[in-house]
Amino acid sequence: MLASQQTRTMELTPRQIVAELDKYIVGQDDAKRSVAVAVRNRWRRQRVDDAMRKEISPKNIMMIGPTGVGKTEIARRLAALTGAPFIKVEATKYTEVGYYGRDVESMVRELVENALGIVRTAERGNVKDEAIRRANERLIDMLLPPVSHKVSKKQQEEDSEEDEESGEINAAQLSDDELVKENRHSRNRDKIQKMLEKGLMENRTVSIVSETRSIPMIMSNMPGMDAMESDLQEMFEKITPKSRTKREVTVKEARAFLVEQESDRLLNKEKIQSAAVELAENLGIIFIDEIDKIVASEKQHGADVSRQGVQRDLLPIVEGTTIQTKYGYVKTDHVLFIAAGAFHRSNPSDLMPELQGRFPIRVELQDLTKEDFIRILTEPDGSLTKQYQALMHTEGIDLLFKPDAVDALAGYAYATNQRMQNIGARRLYTIMERLLEELSFDAPDINKKKVVVDAKYVKERIDDVCKDEDLSKFIL
Ligand SMILES: Nc1ncnc2c1ncn2[C@@H]1O[C@H](COP(=O)(O)OP(=O)(O)OP(=O)(O)O)[C@@H](O)[C@H]1O
Ligand SMILES: [Mg+2]
Repeated sequence: MLASQQTRTMELTPRQIVAELDKYIVGQDDAKRSVAVAVRNRWRRQRVDDAMRKEISPKNIMMIGPTGVGKTEIARRLAALTGAPFIKVEATKYTEVGYYGRDVESMVRELVENALGIVRTAERGNVKDEAIRRANERLIDMLLPPVSHKVSKKQQEEDSEEDEESGEINAAQLSDDELVKENRHSRNRDKIQKMLEKGLMENRTVSIVSETRSIPMIMSNMPGMDAMESDLQEMFEKITPKSRTKREVTVKEARAFLVEQESDRLLNKEKIQSAAVELAENLGIIFIDEIDKIVASEKQHGADVSRQGVQRDLLPIVEGTTIQTKYGYVKTDHVLFIAAGAFHRSNPSDLMPELQGRFPIRVELQDLTKEDFIRILTEPDGSLTKQYQALMHTEGIDLLFKPDAVDALAGYAYATNQRMQNIGARRLYTIMERLLEELSFDAPDINKKKVVVDAKYVKERIDDVCKDEDLSKFIL
């Protein structure tokens, strides 16, 4: 089962993973390498023999680096890339067990949900052909309801004993008349099937009955209710009656709906759930962002109690424990954890010693330079300049950035970061917005087909703001 789940990324070599990440993130090679190796190690572990596999636990990673240099971005892209169950959580979201808020264990439940999605999608793929076949059968029945034979009451009574189960009428009991009807019907069915296959009936309408349940959303914020919430939700799902609604839809829409319904019927829920648990346990990755925010500082005492508490709650999960979820018990021993934090005001050594020990691989992300900014503005798929170009394109405007303009923008961003707070690549967002504010507003009204942004254009719009400290505090 698991072997079939080893999707795309699990097959990617570290070099290929880095190459994928390179498409979106500039620099930060150490961090990219570490996560790539960690992901590959999961793949390797799956391939060693059973006894050894139990021994190999993942080497968790701690990414340390200033704000806005790509920590979260690496996680986000890795998630999109990885075929393994992957979730990203903020450490600040949790509170100590017993306090108001979300408890740390819920991250494991989230991971299993994620795995469930992956397994379900894969299984759906497996039953797809059969689901489509069944859906098409049902479509034919909808377009041409089966013939109902008028059988004399007396005969029906006689037959009822033998035929009670099948409910079918066999050919031997049909009169000639009815046989003719039956034959004609089956010919018509064939015709309709052919037409369906040729896609000639797509716009016909049929009526389908959909069943929905209106389940109340349960929003409790009681301590320790996290696990119970989902149980309650499930209970409500069972007891609320389904409401049936009949809708007229086209054949095309009906097919999509029926395929969905039929594949649900074909899927084995228990099998999927246990596969999901297994997948999460062996290949799951949990990315804990903002880990530095749960360091208790010396000064502020009030909030610290609970921060220490979160660390304490986190520890067993990272060390390996068993968590109860809706889908069964989940062992966290082999889940990979990647933590990230800016550690501005604190150090990794301010974390609880046990927790530090569970993140043996440390990677530092580098501060971004002006050259990095130039590359970030232009190189990645979906870089800022490409985004604005696409937006302006919808207004019929060709937006062109001259290299000297990009250079100037990067220069302003870098200078502003040096002079004021260093917010990394995030500075580019505010600067670009400022640069194109006017054009964004005027775009529909101007007749120009082409707007060229050069160094002069940039200077005219940014220079004043950048030089004026007060103004740049607000705008950049
Ligand atoms: N090296 C980079 N290459 C490309 N884009 C980057 C890079 N670093 C940052 N960015 C962009 O800057 C924005 C902020 O980056 P990100 O969210 O990764 O910061 P972070 O390192 O997690 O900071 P924080 O510590 O504040 O959470 C993102 O939208 C990202 O696209
Ligand atoms: Mg971040």
